[in-house]
Amino acid sequence: MARRWPIQRVPRALWSAQEPTFGDASPALIEAAAKRAGARASGNWFVFAASTDIRADRPFGTRVDGRELVAWRDRAGTLLVGPGECPHLGAPLAHGRVVCDTLVCRWHGLPVGADGRFGWEPLPSHDDGVLAWVRLDGPEDPLPEPVLPARPALAGSVAVVTRVDGVCEPGDIIANRLDPWHGSWFHPYSFTRLTVRAVPEPPDDRFVVDVTFRVAPGIGVPVRAEFACPEPRTVVMTITEGEGEGSVVETHATPLGPGADGRPRTAVIEATIATSDRPGFALARKAAPAIRPLMRRAAARLWRDDLAYAERRYALRS
Ligand code: FES
Ligand SMILES: [Fe+2]
Repeated sequence: MARRWPIQRVPRALWSAQEPTFGDASPALIEAAAKRAGARASGNWFVFAASTDIRADRPFGTRVDGRELVAWRDRAGTLLVGPGECPHLGAPLAHGRVVCDTLVCRWHGLPVGADGRFGWEPLPSHDDGVLAWVRLDGPEDPLPEPVLPARPALAGSVAVVTRVDGVCEPGDIIANRLDPWHGSWFHPYSFTRLTVRAVPEPPDDRFVVDVTFRVAPGIGVPVRAEFACPEPRTVVMTITEGEGEGSVVETHATPLGPGADGRPRTAVIEATIATSDRPGFALARKAAPAIRPLMRRAAARLWRDDLAYAERRYALRS
């Protein structure tokens, strides 16, 4: 393939006229790749939010693995994360107020913060510049920092983080992403001419896929992409050739805990970090605030469908 990948015309074709992929999409191969991913070390780290969600003027509340959490920043920008229940009478600290680096409980004014007074201790946390992580120590050996995939330099990129929650387990999200063969069948509005060039075979545990992204009716951008799992709850797609080479889409599947119906909930927190060596991209970065909602909208339909895939997988198993 050519080093420069111009935008190409994509002739209209019948959805049903594509080559079926079910013969190649071996359930055993997908399962084995998902299982190897599940066996990797996470060091007990979980992505819980976009970095930009956590602010110094108000707390951010969420749940990870059944634990209520609250996060905010001090005035120096340092991330603080800890239990979401007030140690006094259990008020939700996410409803508190940040006053001079300290989070003050709404019910009776108890202050919690980095100093760990009054029975509230911050948890280990990490801000990688795009995503906020928390370490909830459990069955695995803890690591000092999360296992991060390679990313393009943030200074030359546009980063967008989105989140969608589903009724499934993290492994269902990972298994969906480790089935590249569904791309042009299940998402024909986004992908066409999809060919799986290489399947994961340890030690080279990644998919290599050639695919054309549809950008407008009859027009597409061909790229080569790789899919790999650096840790058990993350799948990374890296564009290795073509427009946007070096761009990544990190899909993080974070278990939230059971919902009111007792079934598991999982958050899909996805970071798209787009880069390009095209001159126009510098302009695009200036226009980033305008581009971000478009990037989000383009991806929203993909997520709805992929979440339905993952939820279906869980429903059949449970
Ligand atoms: S419940 Fe938080 S101060 Fe009383
Ligand atoms: Fe998909």
